Amino acid sequence: MTAALIAEGLVAGYGAAEQILKGASVAVQPGEIVTIIGPNGAGKSTLLKAVAGLLKIAEGRVAVAGRDVTAQDAIGRARAGLAFVPQEANVFARLSVAENLSISGFLDPKGSATELEKIYARYPMLAGKRRALARSLSGGQRQILAMAMGLMQQPTMMLLDEPTAGLSPRAAEELFAAVIDLNRAGLPVLMVEQHAVEALRISHRGYVLVAGRNSVEGAGPALAEDPDIRRLFLGG
Ligand SMILES: Nc1ncnc2c1ncn2[C@@H]1O[C@H](COP(=O)(O)OP(=O)(O)OP(=O)(O)O)[C@@H](O)[C@H]1O
Ligand SMILES: [Mg+2]
Repeated sequence: MTAALIAEGLVAGYGAAEQILKGASVAVQPGEIVTIIGPNGAGKSTLLKAVAGLLKIAEGRVAVAGRDVTAQDAIGRARAGLAFVPQEANVFARLSVAENLSISGFLDPKGSATELEKIYARYPMLAGKRRALARSLSGGQRQILAMAMGLMQQPTMMLLDEPTAGLSPRAAEELFAAVIDLNRAGLPVLMVEQHAVEALRISHRGYVLVAGRNSVEGAGPALAEDPDIRRLFLGG
């Protein structure tokens, strides 16, 4: 079986300072939800950025659906199938919902209208608010929009950086339900989450990243219940 995503031995950082990623690896198999947890500053966002091609890597390799994309930039990796939803500033606040979605279809302008209709059918809330400015949406609605913008790229693999950050418990639950729904429709998902227990429970597998390196990994639900993990990372 060809992995949906392989990132192996990634070494990367920001300029002259010490490298942040010191050889981190993750893999996602077709059909999986995989969650990365770890302390603040561990390099989780850096890892997703390195996978998405937004950050040059000094060492390592990235492959999407069996194709090596290490030499590709972010656009090349998007064309190869990766959609990345960043942790912050992931929608254009002063543009409408429809405008945010339309510009996200830039990889395939001709197919964009069809894709937009599929997204409105999947998320009636967005259809109802298509003329509303993104900044008028609730936090949960904004995260759905950000994810839908990723879907406009017709991805084979979704990267989500803290999709439930700042959401109420109820909105976070709804967001996780939307992630499960996408995954059931066949999309592999790699996400970083602070709501570690909830995220691991809905994940096939999980990784713990500490100081730029892999620590523990295992089945999501097992990690969610692991007393050591709970004590070390989840404050309980
Ligand atoms: N643009 C940047 N320039 C310089 N250093 C950065 C930049 N972005 C992140 N860093 C540093 O890299 C380290 C890892 O940051 P990263 O954002 O990857 O952590 P994280 O695990 O996602 O943390 P969090 O849980 O807070 O989101 C931190 O020390 C951070 O200060
Ligand atoms: Mg982060």
